[in-house]
Amino acid sequence: MERGAILLVAAVVVFVAPVVRGTSHLSFANDTQQVNVTRAGCGVTALCVDQPGACDPAGNGTCLFASVVAGPPAAPNGTDLYFKLRGTSKGYVALGLAVNATEGTSELFLCGQNSSHGTFFFRTMQRNNTNAALTPAERRVTQIRGLVRGDVIECEFNVPGVNATDTRSSHATTTFSILLGTGPLNGSTLGPFNVSLISGPLNVADPSSNVPTTPSPATNATATATATPSGASSVLLSHALLLLPSVLALSVTQSA
Ligand SMILES: *[C@@H]1O[C@H](CO)[C@@H](O)[C@H](O)[C@H]1NC(C)=O
Ligand SMILES: *[C@@H]1O[C@H](CO)[C@@H](O)[C@H](O)[C@H]1NC(C)=O
Ligand SMILES: *[C@@H]1O[C@H](CO)[C@@H](O)[C@H](O)[C@H]1NC(C)=O
Ligand SMILES: *[C@@H]1O[C@H](CO)[C@@H](O)[C@H](O)[C@H]1NC(C)=O
Ligand SMILES: *[C@@H]1O[C@H](CO)[C@@H](O)[C@H](O)[C@H]1NC(C)=O
Ligand SMILES: *[C@@H]1O[C@H](CO)[C@@H](O)[C@H](O)[C@H]1NC(C)=O
Ligand SMILES: *[C@@H]1O[C@H](CO)[C@@H](O)[C@H](O)[C@H]1NC(C)=O
Ligand SMILES: *[C@@H]1O[C@H](CO)[C@@H](O)[C@H](O)[C@H]1NC(C)=O
Ligand SMILES: *[C@@H]1O[C@H](CO)[C@@H](O)[C@H](O)[C@H]1NC(C)=O
Ligand SMILES: *[C@@H]1O[C@H](CO)[C@@H](O)[C@H](O)[C@H]1NC(C)=O
Repeated sequence: MERGAILLVAAVVVFVAPVVRGTSHLSFANDTQQVNVTRAGCGVTALCVDQPGACDPAGNGTCLFASVVAGPPAAPNGTDLYFKLRGTSKGYVALGLAVNATEGTSELFLCGQNSSHGTFFFRTMQRNNTNAALTPAERRVTQIRGLVRGDVIECEFNVPGVNATDTRSSHATTTFSILLGTGPLNGSTLGPFNVSLISGPLNVADPSSNVPTTPSPATNATATATATPSGASSVLLSHALLLLPSVLALSVTQSA
């Protein structure tokens, strides 16, 4: 019954569009507040990224955490990715998917709280990885759930039909860098996305892809799992060239 979603880039959507349910590319779960973000399954059934490392998303601390579980690949539409995201902010927490976090664009999934009510909202945006600018982007997301407890924002959502090989043939269709961060909200205007953590590139369909296989400190086993909590912004700013048009061309498809 859903209309086919189209990846709109740019000006069609008013940037400060009020946050309402029923934005056509977004659909909420019936049990909207049944959110339970924990470390259960991390490294086994879910790929987890976090800052600080191994922090507890079920507690009250400043734990920035995301987990992702991938459905089976379903060519040609792509893979469904089921995310859980948790962080602390008076504005929003966000997760970005990028083919390359220093060029092209990231698809951003934002979970936020409306400061005047403490109510939950969800949005999708596009981030320009070279200048960090955010623009509205309509990306189909389903089964959205969210909860706000003080400064803690928790949410779960499904991103259907992800396929990163449309513009890049040499990697798995589910290999992305994952960006995590927070940002402020001024009225209904989103402030800048402050990236705290860039993980990967990781195959998000492999729960253990960022779990060191060899605990020995003498190896480079953790190299692919490197998180860059600091210095990331300056790296991003230093690549103002070499733009590819919309590198992250996630295929957006209809499905019933
Ligand atoms: C949500 O509720 C509606 C009506 O109550 C029902 O028809 C629909 O199947 C429910 N969806 C899910 C995913 O449970
Ligand atoms: C949340 O998930 C954990 C781990 O799966 C489980 O032990 C706990 O009972 C769940 N809590 C709720 C409220 O569902
Ligand atoms: C988190 O805070 C809530 C209320 O603010 C409290 O009820 C709960 O026990 C706290 N949980 C932990 C793990 O500290
Ligand atoms: C991803 O897209 C490529 C090229 O469009 C296609 O060949 C491939 O089957 C797709 N993979 C999945 C899992 O959808
Ligand atoms: C990402 O892009 C930068 C700059 O364009 C390039 O130097 C780097 O090799 C790319 N990284 C990957 C993993 O492709
Ligand atoms: C990203 O920003 C750069 C520098 O401002 C600009 O040249 C480029 O067109 C932007 N890319 C996209 C996809 O908007
Ligand atoms: C918030 O927006 C208002 C109106 O646009 C502006 O006057 C104010 O300076 C902004 N506050 C911050 C902290 O950016
Ligand atoms: C917060 O709620 C107010 C009042 O309903 C609304 O005007 C504003 O746009 C909302 N802000 C966001 C970010 O949803
Ligand atoms: C961005 O986040 C870092 C923590 O990851 C924090 O130290 C810094 O103050 C934040 N910057 C802004 C402008 O909020
Ligand atoms: C791919 O999407 C189309 C259009 O929504 C749908 O008809 C088809 O069943 C999907 N294919 C798979 C394998 O999910």
